[in-house]
Amino acid sequence: DGELCSSRPLINNSSKIIRKGGSSIFQHSVEGWKINSSLVLEIRKNILRFLDAERDISVVKSSFKPGDVLHYVLDRRRTLNVSQELHSLLPEVSPMKNRRFKTCAVVGNSGILLDSGCGKEIDSHDFVIRCNLAPVVEFAADVGTKSDFITMNPSVVQRAFGGFRNESDREKFVHRLSMLNDSVLWIPAFMVKGGEKHVEWVNALILKNKLKVRTAYPSLRLIHAVRGYWLTNKVPIKRPSTGLLMYTLATRFCDEIHLYGFWPFPKDLKGKEVKYHYYDNLKYRYFSSASPHRMPLEFRTLDGLHNRRALKLTTEKCI
Ligand code: CTP
Repeated sequence: DGELCSSRPLINNSSKIIRKGGSSIFQHSVEGWKINSSLVLEIRKNILRFLDAERDISVVKSSFKPGDVLHYVLDRRRTLNVSQELHSLLPEVSPMKNRRFKTCAVVGNSGILLDSGCGKEIDSHDFVIRCNLAPVVEFAADVGTKSDFITMNPSVVQRAFGGFRNESDREKFVHRLSMLNDSVLWIPAFMVKGGEKHVEWVNALILKNKLKVRTAYPSLRLIHAVRGYWLTNKVPIKRPSTGLLMYTLATRFCDEIHLYGFWPFPKDLKGKEVKYHYYDNLKYRYFSSASPHRMPLEFRTLDGLHNRRALKLTTEKCI
């Protein structure tokens, strides 16, 4: 595509690199920040060449019938069956159809949020997107509580809800989902084999407890399309992280996107330790080759977009 590959790159990493304690971190300014609306429109238009978030954010009921066999997106040799329960939870139409917002927050899960006091600011956005069913109530002052759209990798069942081994794990999960009311719960169920039991258990709990949450399951082409967009813009990311996926999708619905909780580095600018997640003790796996993500590269890219005022990336305290 001529326009995308033109000499003026949409995405450039222009931040100042600071080296502290062996890790590279980036400094950017938020003073006098104001959105560059024409750049936002240009980015939206370019992303639309690869995917239409209204459509690709979820498959719909008419896409499949119960009993259909699908190939996993990132493991084509393996298949899954569309069960009756899964089919009954597919939305009739895209949960994001015709939804537009002035300002949106995409909240990542970095420990940089702890002690940030960003809760109020995050909740003041028109639409708040969160990742992996991260807990909010205990951290409300720093992360807020509003959750209009929340993702859940199937691995969350194991990681945060004990694999639903006992009743109290299941109760905790049902309680967490009931707090979401009719927000969108986005479950990447067709990516890789391994989580199918978890997805089925989640579906069964939602149906049994008649939870109002609106389930959505990303289209089979979404991840390839997102990867294609970033690759074409010279950001070689094999497997975009949930946070980058959410930013990419949000460009379709939001005039102004504010990112919080994006900080894939073990130390802050002052050299103080930063937890990988604000709510658990998971370690920085992405420094090992086992990690599927390239979060530091993603961060540099988002930081470059901040500097061009295509989005606002908050990594400091809000008050
Ligand atoms: N994130 C970040 N810095 C961190 C942790 C997370 O920037 N220290 C951002 C990433 O964009 C990430 C998002 O916050 O995608 C949500 O965090 P997490 O739930 O850990 O994301 P996943 O991408 O789902 O990670 P994984 O595949 O390891 O579960």
